[in-house]
Amino acid sequence: MSIAITDIGELVTNDPAVGDGLGVIRDAAVVIDGDRIAWTGPSAAAPAADEAFDAAGRAVLPGFVDSHAHLVFAGERAEEFAARMSGEKYAAGGIRTTVARTRAASDDELRATVRRLVGEMARQGTTTVECKSGYGLTVEQEERAVRIAAEFADEVTYLGAHVVPSEYGDDTAAYTRLVSTDMLAACAPHARWVDVFCERGAFDADQAREVLQAGVKAGLGARVHANQLTEGPAVRLAVELDAASADHCTFLSDADVDALASSRTVATLLPGVEFSTRQPYPDARRLLDAGATVALASDCNPGSCYSSSMAFCVAVAVRDMRMTPAEAVWAATAGGARALRRTDVGRLAPGARADVHVLDAPSHIHLAYRPGVPQTAAVWRAGVQLR
Ligand code: NIG
Ligand code: FE
Repeated sequence: MSIAITDIGELVTNDPAVGDGLGVIRDAAVVIDGDRIAWTGPSAAAPAADEAFDAAGRAVLPGFVDSHAHLVFAGERAEEFAARMSGEKYAAGGIRTTVARTRAASDDELRATVRRLVGEMARQGTTTVECKSGYGLTVEQEERAVRIAAEFADEVTYLGAHVVPSEYGDDTAAYTRLVSTDMLAACAPHARWVDVFCERGAFDADQAREVLQAGVKAGLGARVHANQLTEGPAVRLAVELDAASADHCTFLSDADVDALASSRTVATLLPGVEFSTRQPYPDARRLLDAGATVALASDCNPGSCYSSSMAFCVAVAVRDMRMTPAEAVWAATAGGARALRRTDVGRLAPGARADVHVLDAPSHIHLAYRPGVPQTAAVWRAGVQLR
């Protein structure tokens, strides 16, 4: 079954063979064959297909790649958000509230939440979703979280090292051991990645290294919650371990920026978090100018950012982080793919997965230019139309 999407005013391919940056083709067409992109090029030259979709001059982008989200949870923390907006500081303490609610929830309740949020994402043009555990924090509960995440998400991350659960008191060392041994063994079969919240009050660099190295030994790739609340060793640890991504990067030293710029580790920025916690935004311009690869992701979770909107992230990144609209759109698509070490998503070129986002707008700039306005007209994921 093939579909030709024709009369595309602006096609964002992210294909270096087409051109720099977004690799834009004007007056373009895309042909989907099965779950793959079969052809891209000028609309007038489009090969015949079984079905046609007239884009009517609108812009077409690769589906968003949301490379950082925490969707397996129960309850919500709207009151905590309201308190923050009245001056309370975010210190990640609320994670334990969500842990208690999550532990008490049934499998089907958790499933319903993940399904709802992945659906909400798809309706906004997100076609690749990474989902972390981290609100269970026992062997059984973390295993359940990654297993349920794997039913709905493209990429699953084991985050047993989110915080130390209260039953461990101050014994972070004992909990770190559990995360690196029995809990890892239970979770690794369902996950591709291992992540650690490396931060004062969570796990220090030695503990984070222990967890990440054990995960890598078990066949997982590393990613790190790094430098979200304070400057510290986490970004450099991520680079040292060749982690796919250092996420947050809100407080960076020059050495951190240099380390990222001379590595394969993507700096994944999560502007919804700074918005929702009233922190300073990460300095995207400094990272880009130094030559680091930047991704944008939602971090959708009930605490630090309960938004699944990648369009919102793009708008904030452009308005307040000095990314150009093209840089921000690239970061939310191709950048996310880099952060997940995926070559089949985040781009529209022959052979890529057919993840297509038709905007109700003539260009990618409208994502930042019209903040808060729903602009997703149609979405295909792996050749299946979702919207
Ligand atoms: O990425 N920083 C750690 N974890 C999440 C927040 C989780 C929560 O507050 O529930 C984050 O911001
Ligand atoms: Fe996170």
